Amino acid sequence: MKKKVLILSGGISKERLISLDTGYQVAKELKKNGYKVKISEPDNNLEKNIKIFKPSVIFNALHGQFGEDGYIQSILERFKIPYTHSGVISSSIAMDKEISKKIFIKNKIKTPKYFTYSYEISKPDLIKKIKRKLKFPVVVKPLNEGSSVNVYISDKTNLGKILYKLKSYKKVMIEKFIDGREIQVAIMGDRKLGAIELKPKRKFYDYQAKYDSKSKTKHIIPVELPKFKFNQLMNAAFKAHKIIGCSGVTRSDFKYLNGNFYLLEVNTQPGMTKLSLVPEIALYKGITFINLIEWMLKDASKKK
Ligand SMILES: Nc1ncnc2c1ncn2[C@@H]1O[C@H](COP(=O)(O)OP(=O)(O)O)[C@@H](O)[C@H]1O
Ligand SMILES: [Mg+2]
Repeated sequence: MKKKVLILSGGISKERLISLDTGYQVAKELKKNGYKVKISEPDNNLEKNIKIFKPSVIFNALHGQFGEDGYIQSILERFKIPYTHSGVISSSIAMDKEISKKIFIKNKIKTPKYFTYSYEISKPDLIKKIKRKLKFPVVVKPLNEGSSVNVYISDKTNLGKILYKLKSYKKVMIEKFIDGREIQVAIMGDRKLGAIELKPKRKFYDYQAKYDSKSKTKHIIPVELPKFKFNQLMNAAFKAHKIIGCSGVTRSDFKYLNGNFYLLEVNTQPGMTKLSLVPEIALYKGITFINLIEWMLKDASKKK
């Protein structure tokens, strides 16, 4: 008998639309392959939906706040039903760019230099601090968003405007801008699955470059790197996945400059539409979309 799968998608994060797309596409693929599927929002009806549908496994297709940060995972633990991807603590660590960077640094995984800013010093003082510690340009970003939402590159002139836009976060990350190649790595359990390079036509790999097909980001697979460099990259992603304690599939985002890989973040809920990066890397390795989803379901069952 095929498993009954409840797919969690939507939610209230800024990545709601991406999650709905992931959920819909995973559901379509599972239905095509004979599974019983129900899609549910992570709202007040979730418990009722679970009681009525009685899924054997939950596919977490959420992204961003409350879906990728340990919050929904801790609710799912209560139902005692296996769910895909990472658990409570690893999800919350990976979602917090400041905590995860501290862990990367402690474990000798290179990451761009940074400091956090809580609007505690004046703009002129901040500019001085940036010049002293990082140098312009810098990247200003929230600590816990995804999909490049509210990620900005700042030279000195637009810093004030950007900080004003991000005021509601109360605390932001200011990071050295690494003007290098954009390479992302997929890890699948104990397997270093592969990597893909992205060449956005835009200034950086922003929201539009990620999701608007007209913006035409070029996807390059296999990534052109000498073998030993490629291994170094895969090892860094694998190490990050393991030290954070991730499960299932993750996707780590790197910048590559002057022979160094700088880890920006580990994504515990990477996009899973047919055209997303992890499915693309998997396919290159001969793992079809349904194979990948079925592996995730099996891995979820094993986890609990
Ligand atoms: N320090 C940096 N140097 C250069 N580009 C960066 C830097 N930080 C972020 N970016 C660009 O912004 C994108 C999104 O940043 P990231 O830290 O991965 O946040 P998100 O969680 O929104 O994906 C990256 O893929 C990259 O293109
Ligand atoms: Mg990213």
